Amino acid sequence: MIITIDGPSGTGKSTIARELARALHFTFFDTGAMYRSFAWFVQNQLVEPTDLQKVISLSADFSFSIETDSQRAKQYFVGQTEVTDQIRSESISSLASQIAKIPEVRESLVRIQRKLGHSSHAVFEGRDMGTVVFPEADLKIFLTASPEIRAERRYQELLTRFPDCADSFNFSQILQDIVQRDHNDTTRLISPLKQASDAVLIDTSHLSIQQIVHQIVELHKERVRRVFPKMKWSYWLVYSCARLFFRLFFRLRVEGLEYFRPGAGIIAANHVSLYDPEVVSVSCPEEVHFLAKESLFRIPILGRLIRILNSHPVSRDGSDAATFRLILRLLQEGKKVILFPEGSRSDDGRIQPLEKGLPFLVQKAKCSIYPVYVSGAFEAWPRSRKFPKLRGRMTCSFGPPIEWEEFEKMDKKEAMQKINERTREALCALKIQTEEMRPR
Ligand code: DC
Repeated sequence: MIITIDGPSGTGKSTIARELARALHFTFFDTGAMYRSFAWFVQNQLVEPTDLQKVISLSADFSFSIETDSQRAKQYFVGQTEVTDQIRSESISSLASQIAKIPEVRESLVRIQRKLGHSSHAVFEGRDMGTVVFPEADLKIFLTASPEIRAERRYQELLTRFPDCADSFNFSQILQDIVQRDHNDTTRLISPLKQASDAVLIDTSHLSIQQIVHQIVELHKERVRRVFPKMKWSYWLVYSCARLFFRLFFRLRVEGLEYFRPGAGIIAANHVSLYDPEVVSVSCPEEVHFLAKESLFRIPILGRLIRILNSHPVSRDGSDAATFRLILRLLQEGKKVILFPEGSRSDDGRIQPLEKGLPFLVQKAKCSIYPVYVSGAFEAWPRSRKFPKLRGRMTCSFGPPIEWEEFEKMDKKEAMQKINERTREALCALKIQTEEMRPR
């Protein structure tokens, strides 16, 4: 899933894109840093920017990589050299804007950008992200702010960073530079800065960073709902009635839907009650599958309803292998499957140790794990009660997905252990977060 953020400088683009990526647990790519790194490479190779042939041939040899340090800050590398700080100098800024006009250079960098976006959920920030690089992006944002406001922000930034040089800053000169740069960016022949026709325009002049990030997260949630395939009408009908039931009787709240992404995945939930599979199913924005004991399918109305809700019977004496094959098939078809990695319902509501099924399936299917914590189901229908209560409060909280690539390079045994550790940690974090917010 790709979100693009374009706009002129001084609109808060980088900060907003970084904060948004943090909120959604997406990867953040600052494409300006790529143009700057290439400019550094040109300068470092002592090539004149006017020598087009040499600059173009350098773009073919440009080896660029990004690493994340322990503080989760990005570090940029050209070959083996770290250039993170050096690319922020004034001379690199102006060189970057010069070389960004060369079509062949743009082609090389666009190729790198598309490759980076290929396998990840990412926020790309730049000038032509929504128009040229990712015209199929799931959500496109175009930020603006009046030149006066942007000049004021730049002026204040300079004053804060260099208080001893305050006398040398001239507001009208800064404003004039901004107007000139806007003109250059919007009128250049190749990939000029412009709003994609399907981008959402946000004027950041009088909004705080938090307000803008919140606005984009809400837009993202809405898009997420739209990108999922439509539910079958029978599924939708039972889903809507069951959802209404949980809303009315248990004031069900769903949190973290922004983490939901299309495609295969295991929804790994805590298990305290027979209500859990239904609560998780009706909290998801798309059709999901779950397993249920064969005996439940023999109960007259319930059996029919859970079948419509994509539940699959597993017999008590049925082999694990048959169940695994069934889940793998569903995952390979791109479906999402609800699993309870603890194996059975907890007697006291605590999260128990996880069994080996989840890591085995993740390794085989190479799919994401969506941790989810259901709160309130234990009070409503614990294992010790034959019949459920029909009132209470429930919350279903989804957490950031755990990607299988995290474990890709580990040996099988280590990966099995780490997958369970990460999932249990995520369930505990969701439990703390959800229970702390819960009214007592
Ligand atoms: O956003 P920034 O100031 O770090 O960008 C550095 C230069 O790169 C700037 O002159 C515009 C150019 N650029 C571009 O042409 N296309 C992009 N996608 C990103 C930046």
